Amino acid sequence: MAEDLTIIQGSKEEIYPSLIPQIKGLLEGEPDLIANLANVAAALKEQFGWLWVGFYLVRGEELVLGPFQGPVACTRIKKGRGVCGTSWQKAQTLIVPDVEKFPGHIACSSLSRSEIVVPVIRNGEVAAVLDVDSELLDQFNETDKKYLEEIVGLVNFS
Ligand code: SME
Repeated sequence: MAEDLTIIQGSKEEIYPSLIPQIKGLLEGEPDLIANLANVAAALKEQFGWLWVGFYLVRGEELVLGPFQGPVACTRIKKGRGVCGTSWQKAQTLIVPDVEKFPGHIACSSLSRSEIVVPVIRNGEVAAVLDVDSELLDQFNETDKKYLEEIVGLVNFS
């Protein structure tokens, strides 16, 4: 695996195409899921400086906190609860420009203002979600959706 990350300046349309091959390099040859999720979270946090980047893993009827970067967070989220639990239930990426306007949002950090949650779908089932939070309003768009969906697709969950 590659052990350095080259941080680039620029627009998201410029950053993601530089970041994705580097993430592939981090994942290459490493079969351990936790190690790989940890490095994906770290790479995204380091490149973008978002408040919180991490994974919740589907464990039975709940999501359980997995590898993340950022402030301490709630450990368990029920299906259909909050942005993460709703993304799991719908098996869809959710972009939330203002978390205070999302009914049932779970405020793990009072600093969080906007959020994107991307489900990790394997064999037709949600296996995990990637949750990204920003302390600024309206920080996520269709570009993040497209590339973050591609990034979670790189991780081998089997
Ligand atoms: N805000 C999330 C909870 C997880 S934390 O932000 C890390 C939600 O409503 O699902």
